[in-house]
Amino acid sequence: MADDPVVILGGGLMGLAVAHQLARRGQQVTVLSRRRSEAAGFVAAGMLAPHAEGLSGTQLRFGQISLERAPGWVAQIEADSGLPCGLRSSGIVVPFRDATERDHYPTAAWGQALNRTQLERELPGLAPQWSTGLLFAQDGQIDNRRLLMRALESACADRGVRFQEGLEVLALEQDGKHLQGARVRNAEGTEYTLNCSTAVLCSGAWSARLLSALPVFPVKGQMLSLQAPRGALKRVIFGPGTYLVPREDGLVVVGATSEPEAGFEEGLTPQGQRTLQDGIASLLPQAMDWPPMERWWGFRPCTPDEGPLLGASPITGLWLACGHHRNGVLMAGLTAELVADAMQQESPSQLNGELLGDFRWDRFEAGALSKNPD
Ligand code: GLY
Repeated sequence: MADDPVVILGGGLMGLAVAHQLARRGQQVTVLSRRRSEAAGFVAAGMLAPHAEGLSGTQLRFGQISLERAPGWVAQIEADSGLPCGLRSSGIVVPFRDATERDHYPTAAWGQALNRTQLERELPGLAPQWSTGLLFAQDGQIDNRRLLMRALESACADRGVRFQEGLEVLALEQDGKHLQGARVRNAEGTEYTLNCSTAVLCSGAWSARLLSALPVFPVKGQMLSLQAPRGALKRVIFGPGTYLVPREDGLVVVGATSEPEAGFEEGLTPQGQRTLQDGIASLLPQAMDWPPMERWWGFRPCTPDEGPLLGASPITGLWLACGHHRNGVLMAGLTAELVADAMQQESPSQLNGELLGDFRWDRFEAGALSKNPD
């Protein structure tokens, strides 16, 4: 890679994870960030849940390997920053109304089937319509909103990553097929071109605004949190449409609506908040009495098959780490490792090479499967 700094387009979770990984390998890195608060990394509930999410195929494989490598990734961040990330192997329970529904769940083979008595032991107070469940003891969570993002920023800073905040990237500039720079606007409204020959597109739901060939679109999610008595909920409950994620200190994060039709429409809506309240009541009625703490929303970066876009792009010098839809927190560490390998032209292990190949940006095009990787 060139000696010039690598420019990371986006200061969200993916941008920070890639910046951190490159900086650990001795690369100079500059992160351009428009507005910290809009990063999906601050919005998500932080579940590490390839099994509870019912992933399949290449996404399940990517998710399972991400889960295995999560403790190592978190240890790097905690060592570099000196800050905790709140990784917890709390396990996740998916409740079902009947055994047929349960046995048809895409990841049923990885879970432990629970009868109603066992369910009640795992989730005291679970509403009576849930007669059975699957316990995924291997799935977990991380306190992304309060801990991980701050620790990752601090780890990046400690490794020498530079940040330019309040800087909006308006367009990419090219010389033929090669990346030449980024047209940017700073907080004062001044526009200028920042020259760069190597960049990583980590612009989340906004990624297609910089490269229209990318099939990335927003899926809005609204969330809230409750303060439960400490220890009232030990496992994550992952119900249809609603999940409750208990942190160590009793905060319970509740997610999430899924509103592709909302586009980039900002803000909470009465309908969205009602959906969450109804979801809580249908899963754990006692949680309706826990005091609400915060409400927020954000935009998941989705793709047609809901899998990420990773690695090389149609522009030489521009790399991709975007489109992780519901699984960005889970997949950030592995994404950063694979993208950094590809950028540094390190010969990846066969497994890493395959993982990257599964998530090429042009896999949706007719005939994409017969193309050779770049
Ligand atoms: N990871 C769960 C969600 O996006 O709602």
